[in-house]
Amino acid sequence: MKERLEELQAEALGKAEKAETLKDLQDIRVAYLGKKGPITEVLRGMGKLSKEERPVIGELANKVREAIAEALDTKKDKLEAEELEKKLEQETIDVTLPGRPVKVGGPHLLTSIVEEIEDLFIGMGFEVREGPEVETDYYNFEALNLPKGHPARDMQDSFYITEELLMRTHTSPVQARTMGEFKGAKPVKMICPGKVYRRDTDDATHSHQFTQVEGLYVDKDVRMSDLKGVLNRFAKQMFGEDREIRLRPSFFPFTEPSVEMDISCKVCHGEGCSVCKGTGWIEILGGGMVHPRVLEMAGYDSEQYTGFAFGMGPERIAMLKYGVDDIRHFYTNDVRFLKQYHKA
Ligand code: DAH
Repeated sequence: MKERLEELQAEALGKAEKAETLKDLQDIRVAYLGKKGPITEVLRGMGKLSKEERPVIGELANKVREAIAEALDTKKDKLEAEELEKKLEQETIDVTLPGRPVKVGGPHLLTSIVEEIEDLFIGMGFEVREGPEVETDYYNFEALNLPKGHPARDMQDSFYITEELLMRTHTSPVQARTMGEFKGAKPVKMICPGKVYRRDTDDATHSHQFTQVEGLYVDKDVRMSDLKGVLNRFAKQMFGEDREIRLRPSFFPFTEPSVEMDISCKVCHGEGCSVCKGTGWIEILGGGMVHPRVLEMAGYDSEQYTGFAFGMGPERIAMLKYGVDDIRHFYTNDVRFLKQYHKA
């Protein structure tokens, strides 16, 4: 029996030594140490042994088991280490390889300009509001003192959807909507950026769709000088502290008096050059004091409340600020044009 055990040990150790995979090792473990294995069988036959022999063989059997288990464990560690080594070798990363550049987008120039305008007016206490692009004839025209048949409607050729619905031709309807919402009961101080639509033939300075930012401030005792102060701050912050503004009389049905605002030419500072066509000034926006009839239609008492309003085109502002020479660049979206204005 002793020889049988020693033989089994030698045999198992030999196989463990030759094993090439973890699966081989597991098979050997089951074959020699399992319940149905030869060592268990030897132990089962111990009943036939004498009293003296029994503990000797018992001890030997345990030692053989331990020796086999230890050999299997050692070999298992070795195989696992080898496997890991192989895996690491295969997965080596060459850190000297150049990376693949990731293309990063950025906001559209117009988006940046609109955000800049918003920040600037928020800084002066204005709230940002929005209105629908499909507008009623009432808000787009009538509530702004442009009744049906008014000749000034010709200034804004329109895309009509039905008799009463059209694509808004300006952001001014948001004035009427906001005042209407406030029911003549409290001051309004808002700007409204958004898309507008006109039946125009596209060229370098005209587009059938463009953006506007409307401004409106209605309160007790709002004056023309407030309008001038706010627009002066806007112009200096947007174009540079060295720029001057001037207001010229103009006409809009929704303001009285109405003005057009110019800024001094950045090239000649008012002297007159080819950029400003010799005038020294560049037209930027329209505005004025809200017409009493517009206030009344929205429910404001024009004896108590006064207000100013203005409307500007972010495309025009971007064109002047960055020297863009064609309004179509804003919607043809050539990335070579757009990426020049991505801030790092
Ligand atoms: N709505 C005018 C336009 O599209 C721009 C404008 C002028 C807006 C004067 C105003 C304003 O609020 O007071 O041409």
